[in-house]
Amino acid sequence: MKEKIREIIDKAREKGRSFLLEMEAEEIFKLYQIPVPETMLIEKEEHLISSGEKLGFPLVMKIVSPQVIHKTDVGGVKVGIKNKEELVSAYKTMVEEVQEKVAGAEIKGVLLQKMAPPGGREVVLGGLKDPTFGPVVMFGLGGIWVEVLKDVSFRVAPINEIEAREMVNDIKGKKILEGVRGEKPVDFVALCKTIANFSRMVYDFPEFKEVDANPVFLYPEAILCVDARIILE
Ligand SMILES: Nc1ncnc2c1ncn2[C@@H]1O[C@H](COP(=O)(O)OP(=O)(O)OP(=O)(O)O)[C@@H](O)[C@H]1O
Ligand SMILES: [Mg+2]
Repeated sequence: MKEKIREIIDKAREKGRSFLLEMEAEEIFKLYQIPVPETMLIEKEEHLISSGEKLGFPLVMKIVSPQVIHKTDVGGVKVGIKNKEELVSAYKTMVEEVQEKVAGAEIKGVLLQKMAPPGGREVVLGGLKDPTFGPVVMFGLGGIWVEVLKDVSFRVAPINEIEAREMVNDIKGKKILEGVRGEKPVDFVALCKTIANFSRMVYDFPEFKEVDANPVFLYPEAILCVDARIILE
């Protein structure tokens, strides 16, 4: 497994990239049992519809370009694509908009991703390197709350599931995950497993300068990381 990941890293570096493409990062997440949505890379427009139908609507489309690291900022993410007509028009609009906003962007294609079910509670996971402690893992509430509340907790990686549970219990907004007004609690077992796996990945690869899973959607019986970002040293 580690060899496979090193291959992905080496390939990116050979191409002069200091970060991994989302699909490469997702591949690595999957190898660490961090759940990601079903995804297909579309390199030719003629494969768009057949791949979309294979995955099943609703879909999300994301730009794949070595020059684009923040996709949303440049029109590189389209959520809620409901049918093939929308799929075709999203593709045209996206390619045009990205090329307009990022001068000289090479478009390698687009990712089609199954849309995560609605109603997920949003959290974020992060991995970074502390000058004193080395690799650390971060967990916090996501979405609009993360910037306002700065409700996050940190641990030195790697951690196990029990330590991950303590980490989750540390945040002030824990009630949101336990459920308010009759809402069901999120799947804490899957969440803690995922945090532990994530921390192991961060620890295992000193090549990773920064890892982000933002957002991660939590459900009563599942967890799904819909965006994976890895920055290399
Ligand atoms: N598979 C998906 N299912 C549902 N929603 C999604 C999915 N993928 C992305 N989104 C939504 O679209 C937003 C932007 O997608 P994504 O995080 O991949 O792009 P980004 O450019 O990295 O954005 P940011 O820089 O804001 O993190 C996400 O925050 C999420 O709300
Ligand atoms: Mg994101």
